[in-house]
Amino acid sequence: MASITQLRPAAAARALVRGAPPSPSSSASTLASNDALVLENVTRAFGALRAVDDVSLSVAAGQKYAVLGSNGAGKTTLFNAITGDFPPTSGRIRFFGEDITELPPHERIRKGLRRTYQSSLLFRELTVRDNLFLAVRGVANGRYSFRRPGPAHASQRATDELLERARLAHIAGETVANLAHGQQRQLEIGMALAGAPRLILFDEPAAGLSPAERRELVALLRSLPGHMSFVLIEHDLDIALRVTEKVTVMHNGQVLKTGTPEQIENDAQVQAIYMGGKH
Ligand SMILES: Nc1ncnc2c1ncn2[C@@H]1O[C@H](COP(=O)(O)OP(=O)(O)OP(=O)(O)O)[C@@H](O)[C@H]1O
Ligand SMILES: [Mg+2]
Repeated sequence: MASITQLRPAAAARALVRGAPPSPSSSASTLASNDALVLENVTRAFGALRAVDDVSLSVAAGQKYAVLGSNGAGKTTLFNAITGDFPPTSGRIRFFGEDITELPPHERIRKGLRRTYQSSLLFRELTVRDNLFLAVRGVANGRYSFRRPGPAHASQRATDELLERARLAHIAGETVANLAHGQQRQLEIGMALAGAPRLILFDEPAAGLSPAERRELVALLRSLPGHMSFVLIEHDLDIALRVTEKVTVMHNGQVLKTGTPEQIENDAQVQAIYMGGKH
């Protein structure tokens, strides 16, 4: 593989965004609250547009959560507010009891928050294994530096574990550019799993997948550890309602409805707006 010191800065930065282990200092607040993520009246405005408008929701520790909504509803902007890519213009965000509203993105990553992006951010010229290895190295010491990594054998072992967990061991040596689209999305999830995340934000991981690839994705999401929370943005209701326990539907930047998958599926207003907009 290419030496990590040879990676261009933009590529290195992309690897780093995958995160770091949770900070030890946050363990006390973990005990104090069963909520992994709490949004209180979060708004993100772009000029006059309130892309996210006064959104409140909470994700319990270990809970699998879906955010639905038609194009432009504000789902990705909500993720950007949570990660700090585009911080809220008002409102508060708590992560395991700690107010992270003002924290820069890399500090949020250190606390165990991860995300995947709607468009692919992989190292296409490298193998599956090397991509995962870089993600592991990026989070290994929590210092966001490739220069002072932990022992290489520990990273190799962690990479092997990620290959298994992301169900990619059989294509570990493949170059990413040669992978099917579904396998690339799977790899992105694998990279987000590096460094013991506590909550992952998945932005439309099923977009563009074949039915077989969707089944594989569902199996992967279902195989994630019970203690790990995730929030899944998904247009495919079948997937969203099958793999999550709680669902928020957004519309025009606001929360239209929050409920169980059953409640959401049977909600007349949701059907009219969300499914009506889809078909
Ligand atoms: N950086 C930005 N600057 C200006 N406007 C933005 C920015 N990001 C998002 N928006 C606007 O905010 C609104 C919500 O966009 P967002 O990407 O959050 O929607 P979405 O629900 O993720 O849609 P999709 O399902 O198409 O991904 C849109 O009107 C979009 O044009
Ligand atoms: Mg989006």
